[in-house]
Amino acid sequence: MGSSAVVGWTLLYAILALISTQQDYSNAALLPETLKLIEAANADGPYLGLVIPNTYELNPLLRSPNFTSTDLIIDFSGRRFRFGTIATKKVILVLTGLGMINAGITTQLLLSMFSVEGVVHYGTAGNANPTFNLADVVIPQYWSHTALWTWQRYGHGPEDDLPLNSMRDIGCLNLASYTVNVTDGSSYDNLLNNIWYQSEEVFPIDGTPEQREFTFWVPVHPFYYEISKNLEDLKLEGCLNSTSCLSHTPKVARVQRGTSASIYLDNAAYRDFIYDKFNITPVDMESASVALICLQQRVPFIAIRALSDLAGGGSADSNEADTFNTLASHNSATVVVEFIKQLAAASCASIMCPSDDVY
Ligand SMILES: *[C@@H]1O[C@H](CO)[C@@H](O)[C@H](O)[C@H]1NC(C)=O
Ligand SMILES: *[C@@H]1O[C@H](CO)[C@@H](O)[C@H](O)[C@H]1NC(C)=O
Ligand SMILES: *[C@@H]1O[C@H](CO)[C@@H](O)[C@H](O)[C@H]1NC(C)=O
Repeated sequence: MGSSAVVGWTLLYAILALISTQQDYSNAALLPETLKLIEAANADGPYLGLVIPNTYELNPLLRSPNFTSTDLIIDFSGRRFRFGTIATKKVILVLTGLGMINAGITTQLLLSMFSVEGVVHYGTAGNANPTFNLADVVIPQYWSHTALWTWQRYGHGPEDDLPLNSMRDIGCLNLASYTVNVTDGSSYDNLLNNIWYQSEEVFPIDGTPEQREFTFWVPVHPFYYEISKNLEDLKLEGCLNSTSCLSHTPKVARVQRGTSASIYLDNAAYRDFIYDKFNITPVDMESASVALICLQQRVPFIAIRALSDLAGGGSADSNEADTFNTLASHNSATVVVEFIKQLAAASCASIMCPSDDVY
């Protein structure tokens, strides 16, 4: 062969190789090599899945002396699954990225691919509850997704039917109620009218396919919630750095409710509304998504969120997260480690065990 022919063949092989790799990635099916890694990992399971929104929340755990990496990493579909142990528990760490879609997809991949006994979701959150402080860590008993809406036409009110049997029992946000600077005696209204909160359609793994159930408040697993009571005495970090400390000592507390939406909340009026209406403490962008996937897959879960800002309710000119995110992330990881230690040591003989069917 002449050298130009060699170059030609080499080029052809290079192109074919490129096409075949592109095909591997363009259809998202599991490659045989990945499947082998997953099977080997699962033979060593089950694992506790740690689902984490952002790198600033993942890194404190990766750096923690309490996390031991096994160096196994499985990449699939743009996600990285890291393996290790915390206390005696085998864990898989996975980063979701921001928002409800990322959190839902990643949690579903985790549960579809791996042998997972439970999910612990953690990170930072906005705080809607005036009885809590920045850098406190809260563990709600219930989570909801509060951005599935029916937006009512102008002219209709609470007594009018909504389209397609939309629900009215959860309630609505009336936008005209937030009108400001109305001069005395003048009437006012708002064409944006009412937003009605809707339950999620849920398709349980043990149900009839395509037959939906409806859920708004998703409970965390009762056994996990019971264990988290033991975290309330945990000492948390209260300093931003060597010179700047909070005036209060951050604490861990169990609370009634948290909520999520793919919306960064930095608005005092809406913060007050969801606190008054739903008794919300943490507001974030992922937890309810993880909760809904775990509910459908019948996998025990809990979410632990450290308060990094006041969701728009603070007196400062800007959102507090710029200053408190690092401290809050650190505290959330501390609580997760302690939760896993407690879980590893716990006996579920007397109360509901994670294997019991509670959802
Ligand atoms: C309402 O009125 C106050 C006092 O005049 C003013 O400072 C504020 O900017 C006004 N707000 C809006 C949204 O116009
Ligand atoms: C500590 O944090 C505060 C608040 O963010 C900041 O103003 C200060 O410069 C920091 N000090 C040091 C030594 O980093
Ligand atoms: C993690 O490990 C360190 C060092 O062993 C220990 O001092 C610390 O208390 C542990 N953290 C938690 C939350 O258990």
